[in-house]
Amino acid sequence: MIGVAAFVAVVLAIPAAKDRGRKLVAEVCTYCHNLDRLRGQELSREEWRGFTKGMISEGAPVTDEELSMILDYLASNYGRKRGQESR
Ligand code: HEC
Repeated sequence: MIGVAAFVAVVLAIPAAKDRGRKLVAEVCTYCHNLDRLRGQELSREEWRGFTKGMISEGAPVTDEELSMILDYLASNYGRKRGQESR
């Protein structure tokens, strides 16, 4: 039964984390400007990290865990090649 529980936990956690990332971006990244700024950037996760680090350190209260979810969301929705579907 542990196997089933773990499977269910993973299945539930994936969309939850994605949703959390989306919410975080909607809250944190609209702190100083709107989300139109994010469109057309097409950056990788590492590029997004460099990009957002400066902006976030200037004022947005974000933990490392939250930043990680933000970067995952940005990379898959505003990243290279992928992400057309969610724009
Ligand atoms: C503390 C304020 C602040 C926060 C929070 C913030 N930004 Fe920004 N952002 C700025 C400023 C200031 C600019 C530059 C505006 C300009 O040059 O006109 C900018 C510009 C941008 C640009 C456009 C850069 C360009 O060259 O056109 C992107 C993309 C961006 N931000 C992404 C994000 C993302 C993603 C987040 C959330 C993780 C975020 N920002 C959170 C202040 C912030």
